[in-house]
Order: sequence, then structure tokens, then C-alpha cells
Amino acid sequence: MSINYSERIPNNVNLASNKTLQRALEHWQPAFQDWWKEMGPEDSKALDVYLRTAISVAPDGWAHYDYVRMPDYRWGIFLTPAEAGRKVNFGAHKGDAAWQEVPGEYRSTLRRIIVTQGDTEPASVEQQRHLGLTCPSLYDLRNIFQVNVEEGRHLWAMVYLLHAYFGRDGREEAEALLERRSGDADNPRILTAFNEKTPDWLSFFMFTFITDRDGKYQLAALAESGFDPLSRTCRFMLTEEAHHLFVGESGIGRIIQRTCEMMNAHKTDDAARLRALGVIDLPTIQKYLNFHFSVTSDLYGNEISSNAASFYTNGLKGRFEETKLADDHRLGNSEYSLMEVVGDDIISKHVPALTALNERLRDDWVKDVNAGVSRWNKIPEKTGIPFRFKLPHKGFHRRIGLFAEHHLSPEGQVLSEAAWTHHHMQWLPVDEDHRFVQSLMGRVTEPGKYANWIAPPARGINGQPVNFEYVRFS
Ligand SMILES: [Fe+2]
Ligand SMILES: [Fe+2]
Repeated sequence: MSINYSERIPNNVNLASNKTLQRALEHWQPAFQDWWKEMGPEDSKALDVYLRTAISVAPDGWAHYDYVRMPDYRWGIFLTPAEAGRKVNFGAHKGDAAWQEVPGEYRSTLRRIIVTQGDTEPASVEQQRHLGLTCPSLYDLRNIFQVNVEEGRHLWAMVYLLHAYFGRDGREEAEALLERRSGDADNPRILTAFNEKTPDWLSFFMFTFITDRDGKYQLAALAESGFDPLSRTCRFMLTEEAHHLFVGESGIGRIIQRTCEMMNAHKTDDAARLRALGVIDLPTIQKYLNFHFSVTSDLYGNEISSNAASFYTNGLKGRFEETKLADDHRLGNSEYSLMEVVGDDIISKHVPALTALNERLRDDWVKDVNAGVSRWNKIPEKTGIPFRFKLPHKGFHRRIGLFAEHHLSPEGQVLSEAAWTHHHMQWLPVDEDHRFVQSLMGRVTEPGKYANWIAPPARGINGQPVNFEYVRFS
């Protein structure tokens, strides 16, 4: 299970035994490095960063921590070991042996699924590439770089599948993954949320808390796939993803903590006063939450989807924790309840469960996001502040699906166009909010120092103190 670092491409898939594949990936490698130089974290080339690198795929102790010069990070191909006798666990092929090669009839669908997932990985690196210049501490700078190098590795994970199983089409898709650019007018990334800007650290932490969590749910559904190499690839990606979610949740938690401390010290909840004190008022954090939650909700797609049904029936993409669910895993006769707008009301209706799998995955994700929001709310609660964060209604500010044609308030009230125009600035960040948050973004690079708007973390990385020199400037 240990990873071979003596080869040009570190891997645990015995790459050396397949010379054609090895050559193809060694050909893609310099193109990836060029992309990293051009689109990876700005001004990071000369930094030594205290990073974790995967050295094994064992659930405990897979990571090794040391200083790494950023461009020398060893991106590689790591799959969770094969499970003996693994089966297709759902859909029409349930009970068959899991596929070690791509079934011909699902080739283009699987390729599309892998490309769409793969495209999000470099996209987020591109979205975040300027943020190192305004880091609130060395600890945070190290964390964003850790997230970035691992998103780069996730691109490798998907590119390995494309090269190993999809022939020439796969190689072409692997090249195109390095050519699209987040936010580019002519050649954008595939999914809308990955073309939005991540202009400040509040957005970055919201993104890793909410949008990386979409990544977790998509990967979890693909980890159930009957196509075994995809399943094993996604399983190892999920172990890395957990840290990204931690960075987001604890980052927002530390911002809330700092604001609550200032509210108590100055006995005020006045947004203007708090802003003058250099911290982010809680209602502004709520607006960012509303924005990121609604934009990421759209990533799950239409509530009713025949594509989602066929992905499932064909054994390509399962449900979250498919094998732990107690039903027939075919869903021929089951129903699922979803919401839609009728006139001024939101009603719930039952639809065939097979067609509602996007909605089901979104609901699983919402539960998980909500649990994180409840953990945030412990912070004002403990400091005696009445404010509580709340997720908006799932139909709020949607561009895709059954709510796309309607305006809903965060409480789920159906609004007229005029009412929406009048009120939406209270619910979503406006230019003034962006400008204010931007105005706080300085650069703090002295070990142990933290920007005024964020509390230090409770503990450091890998048992190191919070004033550790997580990044060395040479
Ligand atoms: Fe990722
Ligand atoms: Fe991630």
C-alpha cells in the first residue's frame, strides 16, 4: 500500500508495468506543471510550505508533513486498494462483479462524469490563486496552499482514469482540462459555481465549507460506482477532502468568534460600529452564507432528472452511502418527496425516487451543511449573543431546477419580481459588502500573528503550535 516516490510520477498503481500509460502520463505531466506555474497560487514559487504529502493509502497515518517548495510538490496517483469480490451494488446490474474496464455502452457517459468532476479541481485552484497575497496568517496561508495542491492532485486522479481507460478521447479530455479557465468568457470551466470569483477570505472559507462539501457528496456518490477504478480513486480523494471542509468550517468559526468577542468588548451589535472596529458583522457573514449555499445548491442539477436516473440504473453513480441504505437498491417502485411552487405556495409532491436522485443527494448535503451551521451557532450562544445563523430555503436564489423561475425569500415566501428587487440586497452581499470585506484583506506573515478580523485557531497543524512558521519566505 505504500506509494512509490522513486518514479517521476508517484503512484500506487504499478505504473511502471504499463509503459504506454506511463509515457502518456509523463507527457501530460509537464503540461500540468506549466498550468500550475501559470494558474496556481500567485507568487508561491519560492516558498517553503509545511505541507502534508500522501505516503500510503492506509486509513491511519497516510500523511507525511514537512517543508515542501511549492512547485516541487509530488502530485501523484493514489487509489484505495481494491476490495476483493466487490460487486455492483445498485441498479440493473446489481450483484454483478464490479467492472475493472469501462463497459462499452457507458463509455461516453462515464467519460463525461469524470471530466465534469475533474474540471472542478483545477477550477477552484484558479478561483483562489490570488488569495495568498492577502492571507490573514501563515497558518491560513499554509492551509490554502494545502487545499490547492490537493485539488491539483484530484485533477491527477481524474486524468489517470481518462488516460488509463478512455484511450485517445481520454487523452484529449485530459488536455482540455488544462485549457479551460475559471471565469474565461471563451473557454470557461464546465459548472457555473466554478466560474464565480473567490475574491476574499470570507468567500474562500465559505467555498471550502459549502462547495468542497458538494465535492464530498459527488465523490461519495461516485465512490459507489460499479466502475471499480472510479470508486477506488474517489475513496482516496474523500480522505483528502475532509481537511478542506475543516479549513472552511473552522475559518468561518474563527471569524464569528472574533466578531462576537468585539461585540461583547464594545457592547454593540451595530454593523457600522463593528465594521469600524475592523471585524465582519454577523449579518454580512449570513449574506455570504446565503450566496454560497444557493449557488452551490445549483451544482446538484434539476430536481427531476432522467440523466440521474440512468446513471443510477446503469450502476455508474450511487446514492450517498448506498450500501448502508436498507432498500432494494433499484428504486423501481419507490417515491421521493420534493418541493415545487404552485401559485404563491410551495407544495411538496411525490415523484418516482429514480428521477429524484439529484434532489436526494442535495438533501443529504443540506443536512451536512446544516450540522456545520449549528456548530457555528454554539459560538454566539457561548458568548451570550442572540444572533443565530440559518440556511436559506432551498428555493432561495436558484438558477437551476423547479425554483429557477421564481423568487423566494430566505424564509421560503414566494415573492413578486418587485418585492425581490426591493429586498434581495438584504439577503445577498452587495458591492458595498464586498468592498468592506475586501478592505480588511491585508497580508499577515509574521509567525503567530493573525489579522484583526479572525481569531487564531484553537490548535495548529499536525500538533505544531499556532505560532509555528508554517510558511518560510526565502
Ligand atoms: Fe477536490
Ligand atoms: Fe476540496
